[in-house]
Amino acid sequence: MDVKALGIYGSPRKGGNTDLLLDQVLEGARGAGAEVNSIYARDLKITGCLECGGCDETGKCVVQDDMDKVYPLLEEANVVFLASPNFFYNVTAQVKLLIDRSQAMWSKRLLGKTPEQRRSYDGGKGYLICVGATKGKNLFQGVELTVKYFYDALDMSYEGGILFQNVEAKGEIITLPDAMEQSFNLGRSAVESMNLDSSP
Ligand SMILES: Cc1cc2nc3c(=O)[nH]c(=O)nc-3n(C[C@H](O)[C@H](O)[C@H](O)COP(=O)(O)O)c2cc1C
Repeated sequence: MDVKALGIYGSPRKGGNTDLLLDQVLEGARGAGAEVNSIYARDLKITGCLECGGCDETGKCVVQDDMDKVYPLLEEANVVFLASPNFFYNVTAQVKLLIDRSQAMWSKRLLGKTPEQRRSYDGGKGYLICVGATKGKNLFQGVELTVKYFYDALDMSYEGGILFQNVEAKGEIITLPDAMEQSFNLGRSAVESMNLDSSP
């Protein structure tokens, strides 16, 4: 099948840990034959959701800003890799803006599918790449819940991903054994799993 992968770079820090990991993930996806697009959340000029209810009727957001460029990429992707550092036990504010604005896609899903149909996902698969500085056992709970329901809005299943603790300094991730290889392999296996699912 045609695999269209989308990488969402969520860190405000250019060349930081999650940037480096997502670069590798996307290389792996490309190598496995996917068409790859990227979004840098730090470069988007977007507002939060206004909770105006506009999308309830149409499945489209009434606000006109850089999300106009993002929605088509979210719509056409069948594999999404979201990379975000852990900020206060969640994704960064830049990513959260984007996620809140995906409410329009949630409304579209609600309009287009019955409750029964909404038990399954037809939009593809979503993955998380996350890094935090500390080591607590609950470090990724908040991030994972938020991201799971982001993918739910996109009609995608959340498939897990790679989560690194105890990594703080810019670029420190490169010193972790296997981090780059693990990321490359995630990109590759995510694309391969789409091809497997669609084989007769
Ligand atoms: C505003 C802010 C909030 C943060 N909150 C947390 C946190 O709650 N838990 C944690 O383990 N690390 C936290 N960190 C550390 C980052 O997650 C960590 O440095 C990460 O490696 C940064 O990834 P990046 O280089 O991709 O931006 C925080 C950093 C900043 C700047």
